[in-house]
Amino acid sequence: MKLAKSGFVRIPSDTLIPNLDVPEEELASFINSWNDLSSDTYMADGGDYRLRRHATFSAARSGGPVQLEQHQPHYQTTNYNSLNGGVKRHFAPVKHETVENLALKAILTFCSRTFGSLSPLNDWHIELHQFRILAKENAGKPTPEGVHQDGVDFVMMSLISRESVIDGETRVHDLNGNEVARFTLTKPMETVLVNDRRVAHGVTPILPAKVGVSGYRDMLVVTFKRK
Ligand SMILES: [Fe+2]
Repeated sequence: MKLAKSGFVRIPSDTLIPNLDVPEEELASFINSWNDLSSDTYMADGGDYRLRRHATFSAARSGGPVQLEQHQPHYQTTNYNSLNGGVKRHFAPVKHETVENLALKAILTFCSRTFGSLSPLNDWHIELHQFRILAKENAGKPTPEGVHQDGVDFVMMSLISRESVIDGETRVHDLNGNEVARFTLTKPMETVLVNDRRVAHGVTPILPAKVGVSGYRDMLVVTFKRK
């Protein structure tokens, strides 16, 4: 698999969606849940352009079942996030109906199987983030910390929506800082999987596509860390 060889792989939405095998209306309501996020009040740059929700799960080794864990703060060391790391950040929980959504469950099962096949001997601490970045006149930053690693083992990043925005280009770098890929995610559920120990990732700022129209970019991020 390309993820094992190159440290990242892109999965087109028309490959991923049939693989998830969930009713269309479940996927539609999963995507619609991004319309009800809460503001991120921990932005050290003072930005008010990020909305989010967060949930923690765990999975047993070798592609085992995924289960919801008690709601808990998100923590990154300043090594991995010099802008917003170093503090426990309490984000609004992912809503119960979203946790129960079949598309979310299928995505977590897909991750558990995929990442579990690459690293079969350990159980997983999993965090799931729903993000909306608003495209403001002075730009909304999908990754305000720049090109970075998340401090985990594997990450799934899926575009949920892109409405009336320009830019927002994804960059993948090797650990020497050399760019190994750049591309723009455009379709709902278009996905990138990365081995976070082998590559870094970042997304360029987004700008509104039209004056007076507020654009946004919605993302799903799922991280898997060995326990
Ligand atoms: Fe990240």
